[in-house]
Amino acid sequence: MWPFSTKGPSGFSSSSTAEQVTEGLHGTALTAIVTGASSGIGTETTRVLALRGVHVIMGVRNMIVAKDVKETILKEIPSAKVDAMELDLSSMESVKKFASEFKSSGLPLNILINNAGIMACPFQLSKDKIEQQFATNHLGHFLLTNLLLDTMKKTSRETKKEGRIVNVSSEAHRFTYSEGIRFDKINDESSYNNWRAYGQSKLANILHTNELTRRLKEDGVDITANSLHPGTIATNLFRHNSAVNGLINVFGRLMLKNVQQGAATTCYVALHPQVKGISGKYFSDSNLAKTTSQGTDADLAKKLWDFSIKLTNKFAKDNVFYFEFRADHCLVKSHVSREILLRGQVGLHGLYKFSNLLFQPANSYCFSSTIYYFPSTCINIASTPGSLFIWCLHFRH
Ligand SMILES: NC(=O)c1ccc[n+]([C@@H]2O[C@H](COP(=O)([O-])OP(=O)(O)OC[C@H]3O[C@@H](n4cnc5c(N)ncnc54)[C@H](OP(=O)(O)O)[C@@H]3O)[C@@H](O)[C@H]2O)c1
Repeated sequence: MWPFSTKGPSGFSSSSTAEQVTEGLHGTALTAIVTGASSGIGTETTRVLALRGVHVIMGVRNMIVAKDVKETILKEIPSAKVDAMELDLSSMESVKKFASEFKSSGLPLNILINNAGIMACPFQLSKDKIEQQFATNHLGHFLLTNLLLDTMKKTSRETKKEGRIVNVSSEAHRFTYSEGIRFDKINDESSYNNWRAYGQSKLANILHTNELTRRLKEDGVDITANSLHPGTIATNLFRHNSAVNGLINVFGRLMLKNVQQGAATTCYVALHPQVKGISGKYFSDSNLAKTTSQGTDADLAKKLWDFSIKLTNKFAKDNVFYFEFRADHCLVKSHVSREILLRGQVGLHGLYKFSNLLFQPANSYCFSSTIYYFPSTCINIASTPGSLFIWCLHFRH
């Protein structure tokens, strides 16, 4: 790495390492999940958080590599609390299984680091038939975050500690498709460009952070969400591009950050007290940084959220729907997304009539194009304005 780097307002620079930006910090009472911890920035983030006393759960798709990573960390830091759980972010089934097993463990969750990623791979579809980079880098993390949010809220309430969600994005978000996110062409192979698709997924990381921040603030919970660029680091990320990989391996050691520097911004945003209360921001070199106009576009962020909700709901099997009964209407909400799926009005004979649909008929569960009636007798206890009665049902499809 070029040795002459200037320090920003945080007191750190592009050459600061993850150990330096967390020096003197104690994370002993904290639990974190780091996705993609089996390689590169994720491994170093895990090591340094563990060094600071954080209990780290590595979300990895290769459990054999994870075992090696854990053993290496334990050799250096015998007191480290590091565990691994299987997670394939390109499969919604796997994301759901991971979240469910994590919740069953009863562990708290203070920090969620959405780090895993793939870059510029040839066109392919994920297990859920979504373009692989968008599915892995954005959608898997989007679903994971939504599924773990309740645990994070509970932890921050009970421990009175700020929860932090950290999305590892990239400066490559600047080189997305001209429209930012190609909602209507997400799986279009004929116009697929591997680098632009990577940029699109990294822009999605930033937009996800921004809309999530808005929602967390609206909910009044003590959880922040920030995105970041880690720098350019010679890691396995470049494996799909032999030419770039070759150049990086030749010049990387001189020109680029090493992995210790590459994990610095993530560890800074996850742990440093300077970041307390800051949410919806983009960081680089352990300092606040600027993104593009698309990266701050609130409408685009909201549109991406709705789009991601539709995709995750569509493929999330065994969804749970909540019925929220209010004085004069009833809402049916998705447990996965917390979005309103249906709005029911009180109709004849005290029945609720559901006909106002949010989802397309193409979606697999059968609310679409059907009018549902539901007896309101059981909700008399909730018939004062503002009161709420929640009833959970399981729908399988
Ligand atoms: N390196 C850079 O210059 C750079 C620059 C900007 C942003 N970033 C971002 O930094 C993050 C980490 O990248 P890195 O440089 O550390 O790359 P890396 O060494 O290739 O690590 C990526 C990690 O993501 C995991 N991963 C990939 N697909 C996955 C899936 N479907 N499910 C679960 N895990 C999966 C990989 O697991 P496997 O080992 O099993 O493949 C690996 O652990 C990425 O989000 C990347 O976009 C990196």
